[in-house]
Parts: sequence; C-alpha cells; structure tokens
Amino acid sequence: MTRSLTRPYTIIFSTATLDGRIASSTRYSLLSCNYDFARLRLLRGAAEAVMVGASTVLIDNPSLRKRLNPRSDKYYRVVVDGRLRLHDELRLVSEPGPPVIVFTAVRDSEKIKRLEAKGVRVHVVGENGVVDLAKAMEILVMEYDVRRLLIEGGGILNYNMLKAGLVDEIRVTYTPYVFAAGRNVFDDPQAEGFPTTSLSPRLRLLCLEKCPCGNCVHVAYRVESTCCPPAAEPYIEPCLSGKIADLVKDAPGGNS
Ligand SMILES: NC(=O)c1ccc[n+]([C@@H]2O[C@H](COP(=O)([O-])OP(=O)(O)OC[C@H]3O[C@@H](n4cnc5c(N)ncnc54)[C@H](OP(=O)(O)O)[C@@H]3O)[C@@H](O)[C@H]2O)c1
Repeated sequence: MTRSLTRPYTIIFSTATLDGRIASSTRYSLLSCNYDFARLRLLRGAAEAVMVGASTVLIDNPSLRKRLNPRSDKYYRVVVDGRLRLHDELRLVSEPGPPVIVFTAVRDSEKIKRLEAKGVRVHVVGENGVVDLAKAMEILVMEYDVRRLLIEGGGILNYNMLKAGLVDEIRVTYTPYVFAAGRNVFDDPQAEGFPTTSLSPRLRLLCLEKCPCGNCVHVAYRVESTCCPPAAEPYIEPCLSGKIADLVKDAPGGNS
C-alpha cells in the first residue's frame, strides 16, 4: 500500500566540482562562493529542518544555524547517525542553537542518555546500524510537524535517501574545480548504485542558471519517481540567482 503525507517535501542541495565531487580524497570540501552560501541559507530558511549524515558532522563540524528569510521559527537540525558517533565536542551538541534530532540504529542507552542530557533528541529507528529512513521521515512529519526538509549531504546520505524514493528535488551547484577522487554527490558505499539509466530515478529539469559569481552553474531537477506523495508542495522557486544577487551583500561567506 502506498503511504502518503508521511514524509516531508525533500530537497537535496550539494555544491560539487565539475566532476561531481562534493569532497576530495582528503575530504576537503570548501567549494562554495558567497552566492552559493546565500543559496544554501535561503533553502534552509524555507525549510523546517536541515539534515546531514554522521560523517559530514564528524568531518566538517558544522553548526547548520545560518538561515536567510526564514519562513518560520520552527527549525530542527537532524543527523542520520547509524552507529551513534555524535559526541559532546561537536558544535551541534556543545553550542546553543536550534534543537538537534538524531536518528540512529543502535541502542546504546548510556550514549543516548548523555546526548539527551545535552538536549539532543535521539530516535532509534532501524537495526544493525541501518536507519529506516522512511520511518525517520514519518517521525519528522508526525512528531515534529516538519513538512519541508533540506538535505545537505554528504554523498552516502544523499544516495540512501534517493534510493529509498524519499527525495523530491536535487539541486547542485557546479564549481570550476576538478578533484578526480573523493566523495560524489551521490555515493553508494556498496559500489552498486543505479546500474542503468532505466534503473536511475526519473528526473525532470526545473532550472539551469549561471551563478551571479559568473563562474558556477546551478541546476535543479525534480525527481519524478518517489515512493509516495510528500506532505507539502514545492516550497521555494527552483531558480534563485536573482534573489541571491540582491541578498549576497548581507550574507558573508565562511563556515556554515
Ligand atoms: N560540497 C558539499 O555540498 C558537501 C556537503 C556535505 C558534505 N560534504 C562532504 O562530504 C563528506 C561526507 O560525506 P559522506 O558521503 O562520506 O558521508 P555522509 O553522507 O555525511 O554520512 C554517512 C554516514 O551517515 C550515516 N548514514 C547515512 N545513511 C544511513 C542509513 N540509512 N542508516 C544508517 N546510517 C546512515 C552512516 O553513519 P554510520 O557510519 O555511523 O552508520 C554513514 O556512514 C565530507 O568530506 C564533507 O565535507 C560536502
């Protein structure tokens, strides 16, 4: 049976090299221009939650706080953390900010207690280190009223969400660099992926635009082969260059 309205309308946003890498072989990933930071923060502002994979948190230690033109005050920072590797020294845990929600697949009650004492909300959904992402989406809608979700990577989380049919839009900013190794926008750790074009998710082009910086290209695609209808309509226009050109003077770059 098709479940409906139990997952948020979900956008993946990544910034990649021309060869589709979001991080190099050394996990270096600083690719965004100031306009791209503004694009990201606008997308955050239009969503009620941002979600990242555990490795992105451990490697980049982001705060995920900065937003532009927020639709509402409701804003959660969500981590998919199969093995519950999140720890106290990370900014998400140690610094004040919007609530943090963690989806994990291990019942480490001591670790869970420690994180909860820091205000982190932990949900165990899944087994053997594999988070049931559909269930996690249902919890976001039903318990937190999150209807619009932004996923900021990394490649493994992007792939798992896309494979599960839980992604509505893919937005990628291509930057003028080549890494030739490292993490891809979508990365299957089993090295299986989608073996043919007929097995690939079906995508429809929504936007192709030059970044106001003049040297990057932004593309947005709609995913037409999702598991089930989302709980909201598309929530922000696909082409944002006009808007960010006006905003960027007020949106300094730097760590997000
Ligand atoms: N340029 C960009 O736009 C951008 C954006 C974000 C990140 N990055 C870069 O990307 C790199 C990290 O990406 P990544 O692909 O290696 O990692 P990732 O996607 O951030 O995190 C992967 C981890 O998330 C957890 N996870 C994901 N799906 C899961 C599921 N269904 N069940 C259980 N756990 C799940 C697993 O944690 P466990 O292993 O603990 O189970 C997995 O190892 C970093 O270098 C970062 O700098 C770049």
